[in-house]
Amino acid sequence: MREMTIFKEKACLVAYFSRAGEHCVKESLVHLPQGNTEAVAKIIRACTGADEFCIQTKTPYPCGLRQTAHMAQRELYADARPELAVHMDRMEQYAIVFLGFPIWWGNPPMPVISFLEEYDFAGKVLIPFCTHEGSGFGHSERTLHIHCPQAKRLPGLAVHASEVHASENQVLRWLQEAKDLL
Ligand SMILES: Cc1cc2nc3c(=O)[nH]c(=O)nc-3n(C[C@H](O)[C@H](O)[C@H](O)COP(=O)(O)O)c2cc1C
Repeated sequence: MREMTIFKEKACLVAYFSRAGEHCVKESLVHLPQGNTEAVAKIIRACTGADEFCIQTKTPYPCGLRQTAHMAQRELYADARPELAVHMDRMEQYAIVFLGFPIWWGNPPMPVISFLEEYDFAGKVLIPFCTHEGSGFGHSERTLHIHCPQAKRLPGLAVHASEVHASENQVLRWLQEAKDLL
């Protein structure tokens, strides 16, 4: 995989939330050992040399898709801030944060909001990416702006779940465009 040196010179972080377990693939329920967003995060990491941080909750989401859907919906309606299990030590060292998440009900999962509210993003560049099954970013770019207005936000990348494992060229093109906007 090609490395893009401009990002190597900057202190970059790929922070992502992703859920392994039961997913709907071509109308069948399939167990994925690695979440889709994590797969894209790994590609970004390989292309940029960024550090990696996985956003994890103290109470993990269920393996089952239906159970996760119920929990996610409850959290969205309650505007919940799920407690995170792991915290970043030196967030201030990063100038650029790639932030990845699956789309849940047209939005980032609530743990992503917990993450955004935990750190100071003033002066940082925030570059979102998501995986989805048809809705693209939905409302999430607006949600990111509301919860993280201090960051300079660059255009995001939305990867369809079915294209995650063939998304390297798409990711590289997007990184190139982001690089030109820095
Ligand atoms: C609770 C829940 C809600 C979802 N809502 C949407 C949605 O609104 N729009 C969409 O396109 N996909 C939706 N999806 C599909 C996920 O965004 C998609 O499968 C994603 O790639 C999962 O990423 P992950 O494996 O990293 O968790 C939803 C999935 C779940 C579990």
